[in-house]
Formats: sequence, structure tokens, C-alpha cells
Amino acid sequence: MNRSILALSLLPLGLCLAQISAPNEAGVAMGHLHFKVRDIEAHRKLWVEVLGGAPSKLAGMEMATLPGVVILWEKGEPAGGTVGSVIGHIGFQVRDVKEVLAKARANGIKIASESPAFLEADGEVRVELGENRALAAPVVFHHIHFYDSAVAETKAWYVKTLGATPGRRGNFEAADVPGANLTFAASESPTVGTKGRALDHIGFEVKNLEAFVKKLEAAGVKFDVPFRKIPSLGISLAFLTDPFGTYIELTEGLDTPPQAGPIRYLPEQKIWALSTDRTTYVLGVNEKNELQSIYWGKRLPRLDGVAAAHTASAASSFESPEGMTAEEYPGWGGMRYAEPCLKVTLADGTRDLVLKYVSHEIRGDTLAIRLKDIQYDLFVDLTYRVHAATGIVRKEARVVNATGQTVTVESAQSGVWNLPPGEGYRLSYLAGRWAGETQLVQEPVHRGIKVLESRRGDTSHELNPWFAIDYEGRADEEHGVVWFGALAWSGNWRLAVEQTPNQLVRVVGGYNPFDFGYQLQPGESLETPPFYGGFTDQGFGEASRLMHRFQRDAILPRRSASRLRPILYNSWEATTFNVNEEGQRQLAEKAAKIGAELFVMDDGWFGARDNDRAGLGDWVVNPKKFPNGLQPLIARVKELGMNFGLWVEPEMVNPDSDLYRAHPDWAIHFPGHPRSEGRNQLVLNMARDEVKEHIFGVLDKLLSENDIRFLKWDMNRPVSEPGWPALPAAEQKKFWVKYVTNVYDIFDRLRARHPELEIEACSGGGARVDMGILTRVEQVWTSDNTDAFDRLRIQEGFSYAYAPKVMMAWVTDVPNMNGRSTPLEFRFLAAMMGSLGIGANLNHWSEGDFALAAKMVSYYKSIRATVAEGGLYRLRSPREGGLTANQYVSADGKQSVVFVFQHAQQFNRPAPAVYLRGLDENALYRVQPIDNKLLERPQVASGSWLANHGLRFGLRGDFDSSSVLLEKVQ
Ligand code: GLA
Repeated sequence: MNRSILALSLLPLGLCLAQISAPNEAGVAMGHLHFKVRDIEAHRKLWVEVLGGAPSKLAGMEMATLPGVVILWEKGEPAGGTVGSVIGHIGFQVRDVKEVLAKARANGIKIASESPAFLEADGEVRVELGENRALAAPVVFHHIHFYDSAVAETKAWYVKTLGATPGRRGNFEAADVPGANLTFAASESPTVGTKGRALDHIGFEVKNLEAFVKKLEAAGVKFDVPFRKIPSLGISLAFLTDPFGTYIELTEGLDTPPQAGPIRYLPEQKIWALSTDRTTYVLGVNEKNELQSIYWGKRLPRLDGVAAAHTASAASSFESPEGMTAEEYPGWGGMRYAEPCLKVTLADGTRDLVLKYVSHEIRGDTLAIRLKDIQYDLFVDLTYRVHAATGIVRKEARVVNATGQTVTVESAQSGVWNLPPGEGYRLSYLAGRWAGETQLVQEPVHRGIKVLESRRGDTSHELNPWFAIDYEGRADEEHGVVWFGALAWSGNWRLAVEQTPNQLVRVVGGYNPFDFGYQLQPGESLETPPFYGGFTDQGFGEASRLMHRFQRDAILPRRSASRLRPILYNSWEATTFNVNEEGQRQLAEKAAKIGAELFVMDDGWFGARDNDRAGLGDWVVNPKKFPNGLQPLIARVKELGMNFGLWVEPEMVNPDSDLYRAHPDWAIHFPGHPRSEGRNQLVLNMARDEVKEHIFGVLDKLLSENDIRFLKWDMNRPVSEPGWPALPAAEQKKFWVKYVTNVYDIFDRLRARHPELEIEACSGGGARVDMGILTRVEQVWTSDNTDAFDRLRIQEGFSYAYAPKVMMAWVTDVPNMNGRSTPLEFRFLAAMMGSLGIGANLNHWSEGDFALAAKMVSYYKSIRATVAEGGLYRLRSPREGGLTANQYVSADGKQSVVFVFQHAQQFNRPAPAVYLRGLDENALYRVQPIDNKLLERPQVASGSWLANHGLRFGLRGDFDSSSVLLEKVQ
């Protein structure tokens, strides 16, 4: 920015302006400015370079946006009244006048006056700066000045025609209409640059433009541009010339100042910035036209100084510029040795892929970037979407084969998250096994690649596609910088966490390249799963809360996302396979008694399913167990005020089943090799469309014939021997992708056909918990391990990545699988920290158990919304010390609930104090414990007391527990 640019930009003649205003009393805010200028380029430079606007085009006109401001430029062949230099004075309101003055000084711009602040350009145009710290927009206009030689008439006309309120402002005539303060000054003795009739064009924003236009039409006003709506700008407009020859643009007012979109492109630096209130993600195109990561972290309110992308230089022939550069979506080509995002073999044997930037498009919160190989017509369409409330960015890629020949894709990744180069990072991830899922593991990021993956065809119990990385292990629950992310895929996935020799730290995620080999025929494309990433500087607690919020706001099925989960009873642990109408009816009656809202019949109801050796695949009601079908049981469940749900395991088949006898080839296998069985079952080849259609058909029939509102969809073994003999060898590997997309397709179609249907994803517990399945189900089964003490750890790990609302937790009988007996109260409180279910054999319960359960269920109902929709604070981890404590704070801050669990009693050693979080320190809270275990029993305590002195529990014995409800006192 130099003096000549500013001079040019301010001097262009016929400069006209409307105003940007904060909503006034009438709730009207101005959303845009219009300039008519001679030199568009110079003007654009001023706004884009000095103020950091994002340029674009609208209907052929140049345009730029700043937060809260849209500026349109049209070339200024002077419209009515614009003659020569017409405006003498324009007013800017800025955040920090001193800063702008300093900037102007540094750019050689003359300062006419410091206070009031006036910039001067060529003695002709003066720019007045006014400070406005209250508003979000960096530049705010809130008034218009008219310089008019016929003040009295002009004012009278506005007062009469527009219903403006007449008045005076200082020495000037004034009139105000909603959204605009008008000051009229006679210009016989023009101020600088004002020669006679000066203003040709003003912009008004009004609340109901259509009605307003009608009013003017009734007053005989003719419109140059009749009323019309422009949805892309969120405005409507109408233009007229007033009786004094003043051109007026009317624009429909907005209730709130409009925000510029979250994505900005700065063409000179060739960078894109995805910004939210919390975060900024910057990527750019370097001098080789390759895409590079530039920044991922805390919000940058301004983009000044953000470096353009540049390839690093290599120090020796053993290194390469591309290997030293944080690339955004590298193909495997050139001297690249880090994990690539895309690796292909082309039809002629070429195995070198160099992707260059072709084009981009910004649509609202979405940025689309197209890349192409330097030679072949192999395209990659990258999509970035940023979620305003959490700053979580979604990346995905689509590989398009326009080469005219078959391309074999050996690795297709969704993208890479590049961290600032360095050493000393710490990786957190979730590892486990069947009945011991989602245990938090934390370890240093080492040189080389740490692979987190599934090769099992499902998401897996063993590792979950979530990661978090903090710096030097400095982050804790409340403090510190944490980057985190998750891949949305329920099949073979992989996260490669890599530290290169040059200290690049990157997380590449997508389809597992292991046994991949996806053949893309000419014209075909392959989409990767979405890969989500977020950032916080407030520790792991905030990272989790952002994930939870994101899942509730943007991932879970829309139609049910805002519903609370019903309290569920599941009969599995009570009956295993021994289900029948009478037994289920009895359990349903007992479940209703304690307040269950959904009764789910688990395994055993279909085919010849008396144990796990037979019947899978035959999804017809067993006539011996249910001689009259499911209807009578469902009717009774409904009568009891509950909905009815059913267990299914559609992807599997027992060799001892009618389905297998009819279609042995439907099970995946390599001919001649054994088909490994797990739990006596084989995996159906869901990648085959006829298998998919069969499964969809039987489930659709079941749901159409019965009032089933809920399915627990299970998958009780991983995939093995993934052969698909019906296809040519080279095409068979498509299985890994198609299996999952076909399963997704069944979920999607069933949900579309049965709008009341809700689904729980289960895979022997938590082997199908990921962001992909969560777009199609309401909840997941966390673990087959329902031991309440083991659950504390499983649930803790789960909560790092997934929302409490989707986490199903059952109260079951003791002694449990560990031979451990925890009190019923402990079991209830542990299960209440997610979505509560009961899986106990109610036939064995005592009256006392029922009474306690009814009390607990009713307590849960009073806090359910807070647990489900609130913010979770992990106060004390089950991995450390002898006390676990969690707290949930409702979204509106009015309610909070605390759960505490003692592990084992050490004689005469009191439990540590529990310091609460997320409360308003100045507010008072009514303290309502569920029992008498609090050592001090304040009826009301302040947020600061609860945070700093804490709650002290007198817990006794092994597995003692308690809970406290806090309600904000109005
Ligand atoms: C899996 C599930 C259990 C139960 C059984 C039924 O193990 O995780 O909850 O549904 O299958 O066979």
C-alpha cells in the first residue's frame, strides 16, 4: 500500500456511500456499502490490502467482504448528479483509530488532524476516523451526510415521503429514518471538495422494504429498479431517483449485522483462510502451484502478515523441497517419502502423481479446490467445510478418473493435518479390545510413523479413528493447546501419525491402504471418508466438549438430534437366547414399573436361533417362541407406555441357516480356502448389490409389518478372507469400500422409509463407533462389558471423542464378568453418565432393588438433558487416584450434576475434595445431594466456593458413590 494507491482510491470521482450500522432501536442494520468509482482496481486494493477484505464477484460486479460489510463496486460513469469530485468527507468508524493513523503514517498518508482524526488526500478528500469498539466489524459506517444546496426542500421531502423524524444535529439540519441518520448541510460554501449539489446516491436500509416501496409508489415515486430479491446476498432492493435528482438505493434491512462468510481467499498471496470465532485454518498455493498447509490454530482476527505458501529448500541431494514442505494433499510422486495422500498406478504403468492446483470455489462455509496431475487427466476435488460454532474443519477428497483408462488407486486418504513443525508432541488415542474398548493412551510422537488402524472391516474394538495431539504433554483437562480429529469411516481405516526427519508433524487419515487396490474405471470417481479436525487452547476437556457439540449440531441424524434418548430396557443379559412371548411380556411389565421408555428384545427371536450356532440370516420370527408373531408382545409393550425395539445382525450368517443353504456364495471367501468362523458365523458379502437388496428387503418387511421403532444393529465378528470370487481378481479389492457404503446405504434407506425408526450401532460392544456411523444412528453400544467399575475407564476414553448422549450404558446384575459386585446405586450412577439403559434380569430383583431403581430413574429424568446436551467436565480420572468424578453443566448454565465414585477404601483416608468447573463464579447454586454423603451440607453455595473449596464427600467402603444436583438460584 503506498500513497498513490490511497490517493487514487479516495479521489476517484463520484464516490458515494451508504452506511453500515449496528442495529438501531428499530433493529435495522445496514449490510453493505456501494461505491461508484472510476478506478475499481485501486479501490479494491485499499479495501482488500489495508482492511483485509476478501474479494469476489457478484453478478459481474467486483465485490469484497469484510466481517459485517459487503462492498460492491461498479464502474462510475457518473450517474445523475455525479460531477467531478463530489464528496468532501467520508466517515469511517474503526476499532482503533491510533492503529489506523499509524498505518497511514507508515504509508506516507497525510494526517490532517489527530483529534478528531482526519486523513487527507491531495487536499481534496478528507477521511474522518471514528472509533467504535463495540461492534464486531472492523469498519463501521453509521451515518450519512448530505451536502445539498436545497436543504430545506430535501429535508421536507424525506420527512414527508419517508416518514423521517425531523430534527437538528449540531448546526445542521437532520432527519432520521429507521437505519439511517441523515444530516443535511447547505453547500453554498462547500467544505473541501463539495461543489454545489454533492451527493447523488444514498443507501437506506429499512425493515420491510416491500411495504416501504409500496408506500413510496403510493406517493407517486417512480422506480429506476423495481423491487426485487437477491437471495445470494440475503437482501432485496429497489432504486429510485428522488425529486431532487438524488439517486437512492433501498435495501432490505437485516436484523443482525451480516457476517462475512467464514472462508476468505486472498488472491495476491493465493491463500484461503477458514475462520471461526475460535480458530483459523490457512492453506495456500505455492510458487510451484502446489497446495500447502500454512496455519492451523487459534483464530487470527486479521490476516495481515500471513505468509504465502513457499516450498522449502533442500539441503542435500538426499532431501527434496517437497519432502521438507507441509503439503496439503500430496500425491506419491517426485521425491516424496512421507506418507502420501494419494498413490496410484496408471494404465501405462506410470506410478508418479504430481498434483497441482487448478481452480477453486467458495460456497458459504465450503471451499472446493480442484487439483490435477501435471500430465494425466486425473483430478482430485478437495472439499473443506468449517463449522462455525466449534471451528471443526471437515476435509474430504474425490479422485476423478478422466484418463480414459483404468487407474488403480493404492492409497486414497481424506487429507492430512499438518501441525507446526517441531518435536516433543504427545499423541492421545483410544485403544482397547473386546469388553475393554476406548482406553485412553498417551505417548510421545516419535520419529517415523505410528499407525492407528483397522484391518478388520469394522471400526474395531482395538483402536478407534480419533486422535489428539498436544505439545510436550503440556495440555491437561483445562489448559493447553490441543489439536484433535476423527475419521468418519466404519470399515478399514488408518491414521498415520508421522514425524519426519525435518520435524514435520502430520496426521494422514483415510482408507487403510493395506490390501486396498481400488480400480477406478474411466469416468469413475472415488470419494474418501470425511476427516474432521479441531483446535483448542483450553485443554482436553474443551477438545471433548467441542467434539460433543459438533456431533450434536452437525453429525447425528437431524431428525432425532435434538431428542433425548429414551431410557431403554434390553433383555439380553436376562434371557440370552431364551426369549418367548410370555417371558418378554413379564420383563416388559417390570421394566415399565421402573420407568423404562423403550423395550428392546435382543438376540434369539428369529429363525432357529436357540444358541449362537444357528439361525443368523433368517430374519423371520421364530414360530415356536412367538406363535402369533411379534404383534401381541409389541401391543403389550405399547400398552405399558413404551416403544418396542429389536436386535438384528444383518451382515452375518450361520452356516446352519436357510440363507446360507440357499446362497453359500454370499459369504465372503476365497474358493478352496477355509472360511474362518467367529462365534460360528460367516460374513455376508455386503459389497454385492444383490446381498444388499436382500437384506434391505427383509428388514424393510419386518419394519413395515410391525411397529418397531428401534433396531439394535449388531456385527459380532470382524471380516476375514475377503474374497469376492464373482469378480475378476483385479476388481475384488473394491470389497473394503463397497461393503461399508452398501451397509450405510441400507441404514439410509431404512431410515428414509421408516421415519420413526431409531438405530443403535453395536459390534460386540464398541467396534462400530465412529463419526461415519454416527451420521446414521442415534446411539452406540459402548461395550459388552457392563461391569460398572470397568465402565468408568471405558466411558472416560469414550468421552474424549464421543458425546455422552450417544453412549449407551446399562445397569446390569452382579457379580458381573469380573466376578465383582458393585452396589446398585454405583451401577446406576455410572450408567447415568451417558444414555441410561437397564439390562438386568428384573425377575431376580428384590422389592428394594425396584424401589431404588425407580428413584434412580426418576433422578436421571431430572438431569437427562444436562448429561445429554450439556458440557462434560472430567474432574477426576479413573486412571489416577482412588476417586472418579465427572460433572455436567447444562447448555443454559442453570443446572449442573456431579457424579463421584470411590474405587477402594483405605482406612481413615477421606476422599479428596472435588472442585467443580463450568459454573458462574458469581452465581449461587442450590446444592441438592441424592443422599447424605456430603460432609458439609450448604443449601446454597456460590460458583466460586464450589470451584475453589469444592465438594467434600464422606464416602465409605469399596465402590461407594454419590451424586449432587446443582440448580442456579435466580
Ligand atoms: C453382542 C452384543 C450383545 C448382545 C449379543 C447377542 O455380543 O454386543 O449386547 O446383543 O451380541 O448375541
